[in-house]
Parts: sequence; C-alpha cells; structure tokens
Amino acid sequence: MISFDKVKSLKGEVNVPSDKSITHRAFIMSAMADGESIVKKPLLSRDTLATKAAMEMVGAEFTETEEGFIVCSKGFKNFKEPGNVINCENSGTTARLLTGLFAGQNKYFVLTGDNSLRKRPMDRVIEPLGKLGANIFARENNKYLPLTILPSKLKGIEIEGKVKSAQVKSAIILAGLQADSNVIYIEPAVTRNHTELMLKTYGVHLNVSGLRIEIEPVDRLMPAEINVPGDFSSAAFFLGAALIFENSEILIKNVGLNPTRSGMLEVLKGMNVNFDVDVNSESGDPFGNILIKSQEYDGITIKGDIIANIIDEIPMISALGLFAKSPVEIRDAHELRVKESDRIKAMVYNLRQIGAEVEEFEDGLKVYPLKNLNKNAKLRSFDDHRIAMINILLSKKFGGLCIDEIDAIDVSFPDFIEKLNSIEVV
Ligand code: S3P
Repeated sequence: MISFDKVKSLKGEVNVPSDKSITHRAFIMSAMADGESIVKKPLLSRDTLATKAAMEMVGAEFTETEEGFIVCSKGFKNFKEPGNVINCENSGTTARLLTGLFAGQNKYFVLTGDNSLRKRPMDRVIEPLGKLGANIFARENNKYLPLTILPSKLKGIEIEGKVKSAQVKSAIILAGLQADSNVIYIEPAVTRNHTELMLKTYGVHLNVSGLRIEIEPVDRLMPAEINVPGDFSSAAFFLGAALIFENSEILIKNVGLNPTRSGMLEVLKGMNVNFDVDVNSESGDPFGNILIKSQEYDGITIKGDIIANIIDEIPMISALGLFAKSPVEIRDAHELRVKESDRIKAMVYNLRQIGAEVEEFEDGLKVYPLKNLNKNAKLRSFDDHRIAMINILLSKKFGGLCIDEIDAIDVSFPDFIEKLNSIEVV
C-alpha cells in the first residue's frame, strides 16, 4: 500500500514524456526502412522498449545517441526469422502492429505478452489478416496470445473494419505494404492517424479519402528522421490536475496536438473550461503548449465517434465528474473494457471507494459530483498505468488515500511522480 500527502495547488511548467504511439511507429518504420534512420526524443518506457527489442530480434541495430537512436537496417524484405519468442510485455500496440507486420513476412514468428496482455483480444487483427491470406493461430479459438504466425503470402483485397481501433488499422496497413496487390481498408470511424502520416516521411504514400485507405505494396521504405513530440495522453493528467487542485496554473509544453488524438480539448470546451493553446508547428503533426488554470466547470455527456479520439483520456475525464457542477456521463465506450484493464470497472470501483455516486453501463459510466468523501478509501490500480496515475492525483488531492500499487506507471510515464513534485505547492 502507498499513499501521498495532501497537495494544495500545482503551479509551473511541465514537459510531458514523448509520445508512446509515435515512438512505437518510429521504431517499427525505422527497422522496416533500409539504411540509417534517426529517432529523436523517443519515449523509453516498458511498452516502447518491447517494440525496440522485437525490431532488434529481426535484425535492426539501434545505437543510442544523446538525442535518441540511430537505427540501421537492411529493410523489411531482409528481416531475420527470430530465433526466439517475441515478448510484447504489456503493450497492445506492439502485439497488434507486429502481428500485421510479421503476417506479411512469409516466415515463422511466435508472439506473447504479460498476464494482462495475454487476456486482451487479438482476434480483431487475426480475423482481417486471415482474409488477406495470413496463417495465424492463437490460444482459445484464435483469440489470445501467445500466437503463432506461419509462413504465407498475402493478397490484396478490400476489408471493412469492425473495430474502431488505430491498432487494427495499422496492422492491416503494415501487412498491406507486403501484399501482392492493393489492400483497401475502410475504417469504421476516424482513429489516430500516426501510421498514415509517418509512412509519408518514410517515402510511402497511402491513398486516404475519408474513411477509405488504399495501401499499395512497396519494395522499400526510405530511411527518415523522426522527432517525437510530447504525448497528449500524458498531458491529459495535467489538464485534469489543473481542474482538480484549486488555485493551479500549469503550462504543458511541446505536446502533440494531432486532432485524431486531442479530442479531450473539445470535451473540455463542452464542459465550459477555458484554456489557451499555442501551436508551434506549421507542417506535419502539429504540437504546441497548453496553458490551463483552475476554474469551475460543467458536466457533460460524451458519446459517438469522438470516443475513438479520447479513448486513453476517458479515465481522467470521468474522474473530473467528481468536481464538476453536474454529472459526467460517457457512453459508446465498450472498448474501455479491453484496455490494459477493464477501465470502466476500474474507474467505477475507485470513484465509488472515494464515496461518489457512480452508475455503471456496459458501454460507459456516469459520475456524479462528490458529496461525502470516504477518507478510508482503498484505491486499486488494476496493473494499469493510466488508472495508477489517476489514483496518485486523487491521493494527493485528498491527502493520504491508500493505493494498492503504482508500478504500472513505467509503461508510459516513468517519472510521473517527479514531474508532479516539481510543480507542487503544499
Ligand atoms: C494506440 C491506439 C489505441 C490506444 C492505445 C495506443 C496506438 O488503441 O488505446 O493506447 O498506438 O495505435 P486502439 O487502437 O485499440 O483503440
């Protein structure tokens, strides 16, 4: 059990860690390219190191520099068949993207993961990849890791996506680049588009028109240089913190502001929260600074396609319901049940522990403003980095609330506590 002393306010500037999704993709595409690529300011966390290790197993060489890594590779046409099982650790992105990438290799691979990842659905990628001709077998009726990819050649067909997931989309794109003719993927809703944008930097142009993505097979990816911006999903904890801790003022610096990721800003506007965004970049993925201060704010009901653009921020948004003027309700968010933990169950459990009235739905939750605090609340992190970080904020807000463990923060934000400490006013 761990608990934190009460913190009154948060004041100052923070640089959030580099983007997890972009780092995974930069490591993968640099290994796919033939030549020498550069990845500047990558996130080094448990998840992204799993992707890096996998890329080393197929032959890419990573040399650490002051700024990040130089990645040397002979390209995806010359990947080695790994001599061992690939461990994706806790990372759904590693597991899904690499299943797509390796499905097109005509080689033998075995992928596994930790206790949490082995419970998360893999059929969402196995099924569509099977339609392209991939030969993949997984535990319990082709659903769960460990999975085996047997040698096979992929064909170009049209696939209509069933799950609103950037991981599934990216798996199909990485497979499609290796098929014998064009693959067309129709997304069920707009999800984060880092794969499509970054491929352009590596010399590959996809034909994207609305929800339709056409992937033409390629012989090579050109080496490239990627500069990873701050992770919006990590910034979300500071956006939330400024609203939770009274008299706070936080400047969050160099955050990625890709609109497929930053839906939480739209949600905050809908809650009548004021903040300033200062965009720094003119081209490529936008990034910039966000200034936010403590203030009163309204509740909101969130549903529909925006859910895919706030998927990792929903736990933080739901916790804001504790301090809003009216309830915060989230629907159409079934996907939360199959993240690093069942995040609907986790948030319902913790917010009820604190004493809040919370309704649970199959596809979401409704959090009512907190009336009576339970000082003896025992919060649980469910081995989930994002739930652990919200628990830390709540323990500091109320002072002394117990949390079972917080080790999971290493997955995306290893120095979360140090960053918070640096702006605390006690
Ligand atoms: C990610 C996509 C999202 C997100 C995850 C990272 C990615 O998952 O929750 O943290 O990097 O593509 P889904 O695509 O499964 O929604």
